[in-house]
Amino acid sequence: MKGKVCLVTGTSAGIGKATAIGLAKMDATVVTVMRDSEKARKAFSEIKSQSGKGDSSVYYLVADLASQKSIRDLANEFNNRFDRLDVLLNNAGVTELRRLLTPEGIETTFAVNVLAPFLLTNLLLSKLKSSAPSRIVNVSSASSDRAKIDFDNLQGEKKFSMLGNYGQSKLALNLITVEFSRRLAGAGVTANFLHPGTIRTDLGSQRLNPALRFIAKLVKIFMPGPEKGARTSIYLASSADVEGVTGKYFGNKREQAANPISYDEETAKRLWLICENLTGISVPPGQSSIHQ
Ligand SMILES: NC(=O)c1ccc[n+]([C@@H]2O[C@H](COP(=O)([O-])OP(=O)(O)OC[C@H]3O[C@@H](n4cnc5c(N)ncnc54)[C@H](OP(=O)(O)O)[C@@H]3O)[C@@H](O)[C@H]2O)c1
Repeated sequence: MKGKVCLVTGTSAGIGKATAIGLAKMDATVVTVMRDSEKARKAFSEIKSQSGKGDSSVYYLVADLASQKSIRDLANEFNNRFDRLDVLLNNAGVTELRRLLTPEGIETTFAVNVLAPFLLTNLLLSKLKSSAPSRIVNVSSASSDRAKIDFDNLQGEKKFSMLGNYGQSKLALNLITVEFSRRLAGAGVTANFLHPGTIRTDLGSQRLNPALRFIAKLVKIFMPGPEKGARTSIYLASSADVEGVTGKYFGNKREQAANPISYDEETAKRLWLICENLTGISVPPGQSSIHQ
């Protein structure tokens, strides 16, 4: 991966941190994206020390992916500072216990798991295209496998449930990924999505009270760790086996059958329009990139 630039979101912990370490160990230039926190600064030091790479190989850009303004600032900063983008790895994700709105008034699960990868990818498309062959890798979840899209409840407007809205958000991410693969056909930019496995991380635990957090830790004790969860992300980001492969779902480094709704073009078009409206981005029909 020497000479390749990989941007990885959600690297303050868990699968994203392990992915960043893995890609840096393979000599990629890794641009990590995290919120501004003590936890993130500590993770950044660990990524550098555990990969054995220094300041010229591993970078830290600050962004809150629940904020579209922050995503736009992130994309501007990346586009100004880096002359290429070989891999965009949208890894950051949340499961919220309750319906919480972002400062821009969007339900947080939908904002972080769907709109953030949609907006960031669109804002970085020119860079991905000029660096082709390049790859978009989106971290989905097996919770999308049995999910459905309810357009009247995309943001939990009628009824919010942690698992229901999380599963729906990941299915929406699948739809967006496959739609990117269609729009980017022939451009040398692939877009795939993956399930990392059921992995021992803090996902879903952040907002629990200390007692429940402790119980969640016990429940997860026998689950595989983040390094295992990062394997398929690293594979899709780096392996020659998947050169040119696009619009596919992977688990355990193998192509798998996704929820068939992931490939439904009508649903994808409707969702894409909603994402365009909610982010204020517009991509002319038939075109695969925007220039802003
Ligand atoms: N663990 C599993 O079993 C599992 C299964 C299926 C799919 N996944 C998916 O795998 C991905 C990684 O999750 P994980 O298990 O590694 O969980 P995690 O340890 O909780 O990591 C999630 C990452 O996303 C970041 N993030 C969340 N909200 C953000 C925001 N508003 N702005 C910027 N960053 C934000 C977190 O940063 P902060 O530290 O700032 O919160 C953290 O770095 C997610 O997309 C998740 O849905 C995980």
